Amino acid sequence: MATKYLDLTMTESVCRAQKRYYGHAAQITDAQERDPLGEGEAEFIAARDSFYLGTVSENGWPYIQHRGGPAGFLRVLNPTTLVFADYKGNRQLLSTGNVSVNDRVSLFLMDYKNRERLKILGHARVEDVRLHSEFVVQVSDANMRSSVERLVFIDVVSFDWNCPKYITPRYSVAEVEELAGPLRERIVELEAQLRTAETK
Ligand SMILES: Cc1cc2nc3c(=O)[nH]c(=O)nc-3n(C[C@H](O)[C@H](O)[C@H](O)COP(=O)(O)O)c2cc1C
Repeated sequence: MATKYLDLTMTESVCRAQKRYYGHAAQITDAQERDPLGEGEAEFIAARDSFYLGTVSENGWPYIQHRGGPAGFLRVLNPTTLVFADYKGNRQLLSTGNVSVNDRVSLFLMDYKNRERLKILGHARVEDVRLHSEFVVQVSDANMRSSVERLVFIDVVSFDWNCPKYITPRYSVAEVEELAGPLRERIVELEAQLRTAETK
């Protein structure tokens, strides 16, 4: 179990809240320095086509941005390093600016179909893509490569899985198409049979 996540998140105020509402607070005593991602986490990340990136601004406001791309665009370089591409065009650079003063980030990855979610805590580093062009092929589609302006590296500290409760299963258009394919074929087959029967 990844205990560092709880060690970092069970702050004094959180423990106070737990004590107030439940009479006792969680105690984390055996946390490692960090929890590297395992095979299960790597597999889950490789299948994601989106995630949410939480950063903290210098005035203390949490900020969340949606990130999307082809499945696996958030690349697991090794058990403690993730990387993804940041594209030019949006001139706000909110995550980039936030990370420059506070490198702590929270990644939130959803699998709505299977009702699973993975949370990751880490330190982010934003790098000019011109200094790391070797990664561009790994993190972007061929037709998007010229738009990559920065690479965001995440040094993973820990992660946590949550239970499926309250997650409504949702399907992407591609997944719906995949499920509907055999049904469509069956309809075509039945319509053909109907036409044959009608002409008899
Ligand atoms: C041409 C273009 C393509 C983009 N493609 C993607 C993309 O594939 N995935 C993504 O998450 N954001 C994409 N974006 C958004 C940018 O990466 C954007 O900088 C980022 O979402 C803004 O982050 P911020 O809120 O931290 O400023 C694209 C933007 C432009 C202009």
